[in-house]
Amino acid sequence: MQDRTPARASLEPIEIASRDEIAGLQLQRLKWTLAHAYDNVPHYRRSFEAAGVHPDDLKSLADLARFPFTAKADLRANYPFGMFAVPREKIARVHASSGTTGKPTVVGYTAKDIDTWASVVARSMRAAGTRPGDLVHVAYGYGLFTGGLGAHYGAEKLGCTVIPVSGGMTERQVQLIADFKPDVIMVTPSYMLAILDQFREAGLDPRASSLSVGIFGAEPWTESMRREIEATFDMHAVDIYGLSEVMGPGVANECVESKDGLHIWEDHFYPEVIDPVSGTPLPDGEKGELVFTSLTKEGMPVIRYRTRDLTRLLPGTARSMRRMEKVTGRSDDMMIVRGVNVFPTQIEELILLCEGLSLHYQIELTRAERMDEMTVSVEAKPEAAGEAARAAAAAILGQHVKSRVGITAKVVVTEPGQVERSQGKARRVIDKRTPV
Ligand code: DLL
Repeated sequence: MQDRTPARASLEPIEIASRDEIAGLQLQRLKWTLAHAYDNVPHYRRSFEAAGVHPDDLKSLADLARFPFTAKADLRANYPFGMFAVPREKIARVHASSGTTGKPTVVGYTAKDIDTWASVVARSMRAAGTRPGDLVHVAYGYGLFTGGLGAHYGAEKLGCTVIPVSGGMTERQVQLIADFKPDVIMVTPSYMLAILDQFREAGLDPRASSLSVGIFGAEPWTESMRREIEATFDMHAVDIYGLSEVMGPGVANECVESKDGLHIWEDHFYPEVIDPVSGTPLPDGEKGELVFTSLTKEGMPVIRYRTRDLTRLLPGTARSMRRMEKVTGRSDDMMIVRGVNVFPTQIEELILLCEGLSLHYQIELTRAERMDEMTVSVEAKPEAAGEAARAAAAAILGQHVKSRVGITAKVVVTEPGQVERSQGKARRVIDKRTPV
């Protein structure tokens, strides 16, 4: 793999500033944000008053814990534009989450916010090993989803040449990669696997492709998947994290030289990890729910937004800013099967332990006679698609699930091409159980 470590001189000074300097900047920006939200968003004025707090009560960063949380439900209750802190005419762009249930959540950005966002995505891309002048293939969806346009503006800001492909039309994706020879691809990890299949179908060797760096995010993926993608394409696979309510992609990113968790761009996003049940902030190093307060957003500041993502905060390494451990699941994705808590990523890790299985998988939950049933459907790799090989792989995966997760699952190993393909975020779980 090519060495893609960015030159120290190319980093922004704040990325390698002292902790005191970062904390000082955070406190100043936090005071501004709380006052801005309180003065301009009726929801925040009401919720602060109900909690008996005023922006002036914030004297130190720890005082933030006295302020109320914001949840997705608050954004829905103020649909569409009620959380904006500036007049609608000052909003340069809106995005919205797809919202699998209920109304989507809408977010708004001023022109300055768009510029800040482009800067953090540019910083993320540089951390991932992208350099000015690189050719960047963006296969995140363009539209209300923040992935495509977020990546696009960041790539332009860094001085790259952008190919705005968006998601879908996999054959064309591969054709463009073969013809244009991009250095970098930005795409969900599950869609990268669909692109890989198409490479093989077209008779192309992925290791011979021009790609040096893949910047993967928008959904959980595992260390095992990283190893698989890196070996298959001979490129760096780096994690990018973000969510629309807080900004979009580029809230945190891994550094290509360390790949040890994602540095949170703490000069713009203040992180906390809380106990998801009691809401109490947890010390760094302990696992819980990630919560963010924006520090510079004008259009739609968010105060203590509960992400539902589970992770822990760790000290800085390649940069001074703290890291978050790779997110392996959201509290919403956790399946409770016969009383056992299971995340789809746990199953993913086990699939990779079985020779002959691909990473195209889906989990179906059903309930028969009040007993939960879990069925894992996973595709065989083309070279292991014979009936006997599939049956053997199914038995092995079933044993792994039994011994490591503690539940009996039905495993169906299909021929290649039988499991639903993702063109963006993969749908890993289909829960057909009727609520009791
Ligand atoms: O997924 C923004 C994004 C686009 C991030 C492109 C990275 C790349 P939403 O659609 O609002 O925004 O979904 C946000 O996706 O709360 C996580 O649960 C999940 N997620 C995002 N990045 C990662 C990641 C975009 N690197 C939700 N690892 C978040 C695990 C991720 N989960």
